[in-house]
Amino acid sequence: MKSVRIENVTKKFGNVLGVSELNLEVKPGEFFTFLGPSGCGKTTTLRMIAGFYYPTTGKVYFDGQDVTTLQPNKRNIGMVFQNYALFPHMTVDENIAFGLQVRKLPKSDIRQKVDRIRGLVHLGQYGSRKINELSGGQQQRVALARALVIEPDILLLDEPLSNLDAKLREETRVEIKRIQTELGVTTIYVTHDQTEAMSMSDRIMVMESGLVKQVGTPQEIYHKPNNRFVATFIGETNMLEMKVSSIEGDVVTVESENGLILRGLVNGAAKEVQLAADSTIHVSIRPEAFEAGPGDNTVKGTIEFVEFTGLSVNYIVHVNGTSLKAMIINGGSAIKAVRDEIELHIPPRNLYFLAE
Ligand SMILES: Nc1ncnc2c1ncn2[C@@H]1O[C@H](COP(=O)(O)OP(=O)(O)O)[C@@H](O)[C@H]1O
Ligand SMILES: [Mg+2]
Repeated sequence: MKSVRIENVTKKFGNVLGVSELNLEVKPGEFFTFLGPSGCGKTTTLRMIAGFYYPTTGKVYFDGQDVTTLQPNKRNIGMVFQNYALFPHMTVDENIAFGLQVRKLPKSDIRQKVDRIRGLVHLGQYGSRKINELSGGQQQRVALARALVIEPDILLLDEPLSNLDAKLREETRVEIKRIQTELGVTTIYVTHDQTEAMSMSDRIMVMESGLVKQVGTPQEIYHKPNNRFVATFIGETNMLEMKVSSIEGDVVTVESENGLILRGLVNGAAKEVQLAADSTIHVSIRPEAFEAGPGDNTVKGTIEFVEFTGLSVNYIVHVNGTSLKAMIINGGSAIKAVRDEIELHIPPRNLYFLAE
């Protein structure tokens, strides 16, 4: 396992900016994810780490060694793609063995390594099956085995689960995480799916339009987003533009144009926020920030939508001209209906203030 460092990397395709001024450090053994909407520069960045693209400017280092223009086959990386890129007419073992044969390893070594890795991805008895006789999930495991069998210093995965259906995606995501933890290989994972990113990663880099919007642990990204893009891209939130009406001690009072008044805490502000009376600020309130009944920050409104999921009751409540999404954990009490009045409250620690 090696570390990966990207220093001031920009990649242009003619006039199109792939990524801009990117800096990044992935620690040895870390599970690091690039997360962002389609076209934000995830694959471009991954391909520069793999060596399929060279940066227009900037440097890439593995364990402090400059690999910026080193050829892909000299980097000892394993790569898994969305479309698997397997040889369909060949068997599982022939596919897995491919990278070892290219490296001209002795036959007995190849046999041993292929057997071991096939067991690791739970395809024990499938060695002589043809790829086109396997399910999508099994094919993805072959692709993973093929990337891992060469014992890569760095494992790169580009949207590896996108072609699987929802249930299989969940199972395979647990499997990938298990295998990565077992091997301890430095892993960079690309996805546009925030649940995948949150559940698998040690740290996440959130990207938009070729720029890094935040790097942090899943908890940091979720609870302390740096900006509105991150707050709304990761999970659901109510984003309100409000005015700071006063700051007294550690209590911040904010007010919306249509008279909704809420109180939050000074330490509920993102890093860059300068809280000042009369300034306009963005307030992020997650649906799970609400609690049933009156209390601090009581909001009273009319139910516009209600949905029972078993785990929770999800409401959209019309309060002072604003629709707020609230999620109340199902405690077995009666569920209200559309057009009913409802009273909820938001503990002040659940308000989060953002500048941009
Ligand atoms: N080979 C290429 N030629 C021209 N433009 C490209 C090429 N590869 C990527 N781009 C552009 O760079 C931007 C980032 O693309 P990409 O890294 O593939 O995004 P993502 O993987 O996040 O969906 C997009 O605007 C895309 O159109
Ligand atoms: Mg991509």
